[in-house]
Amino acid sequence: MSIQYPSNASADTKWLMDEVNAILERNRQRGSAEWCGYDYDFTCPSFVTYPFQWFWDSCFHAISASYVDIQKGELEIKSLLRNQHPDGFISHVTFWQRDAFEEMVSTYAIAFRSRYLSDEMQPPLLAEAVAAVAKRGRGVEFINEVLPQVKAFYEWLHTVRNPYGDGLVRVVQPDETGLDHSPKWDGLMQIKEITVDEFNAGWNRICKPYEAFNRDPKKMIELNHFVVADVMTNTIYIENLRVLAQLCTQVGDTASATEYLLRADKAKQSLMDLCWDEEVGLFFDAANQENTPLQVNTFTSLMPLLLGDLDPAIAEALIEHVANPKEYWASYPIPSVAMNEPSFLPGTAGNILVWRGPTWINSNWYLARGLMRHGRSDLARVIADKSLELVRKHGFREYYNPLTTQGHGAPDFSWSTILVDLFILTRNSDGS
Ligand code: GLC
Repeated sequence: MSIQYPSNASADTKWLMDEVNAILERNRQRGSAEWCGYDYDFTCPSFVTYPFQWFWDSCFHAISASYVDIQKGELEIKSLLRNQHPDGFISHVTFWQRDAFEEMVSTYAIAFRSRYLSDEMQPPLLAEAVAAVAKRGRGVEFINEVLPQVKAFYEWLHTVRNPYGDGLVRVVQPDETGLDHSPKWDGLMQIKEITVDEFNAGWNRICKPYEAFNRDPKKMIELNHFVVADVMTNTIYIENLRVLAQLCTQVGDTASATEYLLRADKAKQSLMDLCWDEEVGLFFDAANQENTPLQVNTFTSLMPLLLGDLDPAIAEALIEHVANPKEYWASYPIPSVAMNEPSFLPGTAGNILVWRGPTWINSNWYLARGLMRHGRSDLARVIADKSLELVRKHGFREYYNPLTTQGHGAPDFSWSTILVDLFILTRNSDGS
């Protein structure tokens, strides 16, 4: 299938779209899984280290695919929904072809529901992925095909992961945020030194006790030792409830749309009440029933910029942090940890510990769109251009050194293709 370039596409845009298409195709996994009896067709994050289907990676892949191969975008989402659990939950990893990669699985710290499905969530950007694929593809026809399952997933979040009734979702272990080794968990995980062994021990301290009661969500939360309202996960949740409301409106389901908008507003109010630190001018995660703030300055503190209805004075305060060369305005923004945080590490941490300083393309995608929503398209454009430079120099890597451009982590990393959306958005004057 040939790529349909936008009519005003520059040489950069065309190059990017060709590369995106190539990576998504190179990492494509197709087959039939005996263990569940379903066929699968998805793009894995990176063939070298992550050959399975990850939840939030897949959502990014579907959005990228919507620009270059719409059918692939649909198949990505349909494969992700295939093994949804009866309660609406969707595993953060589906080990479709696990038997072929048994050795690799043994190196992961993962909680399982079954041999082929994990028992962890990931940031809930499913509605955004469906909206992108519908927009550039079959519109309401596609929405109607997937909407019942999409709604069931957000229902699961609302009923199972909103334990205190304040509308915010709680994660019960660090990897549920997708930000596995972020320094903001160091305290809760009792991390003393930055080594892989220490992180594995920390993960076990959090997750092993869950096994005694078969990972019953209520009891995991009652344990009250890692129950976190992560600012990024909740910003994505709020944004996605609003996108879900639009999807419902598009197919005439106005009652559901109204309900999701109410949930989004309530969660946003709680985010303000529990996570906004007026004095520092940043949002911080709230931990456990006591809602103790985790005051570590990472990019997630800036994430509420994504919300278009954020109070302008608060948006202004966050933008000051973004544009501060001591914090986030690195040579290649936006580092995942503020550069003046003692834990900031610009390069690889043991080549496996992630989210401790380097720049990632998916977080740039979210933050730059947030900047555009608050009148700073100029900053968003710089972020898009510098991200393109990173990719041109080192390929689609998992993450990059914000000071030197050096690429690290998995090579041919599929979600970094989300740059195509950011790049095109920053070129369209109407941001569409
Ligand atoms: C790492 C990341 C996680 C991602 C996974 C697959 O574990 O921290 O966010 O989903 O790799 O790419």
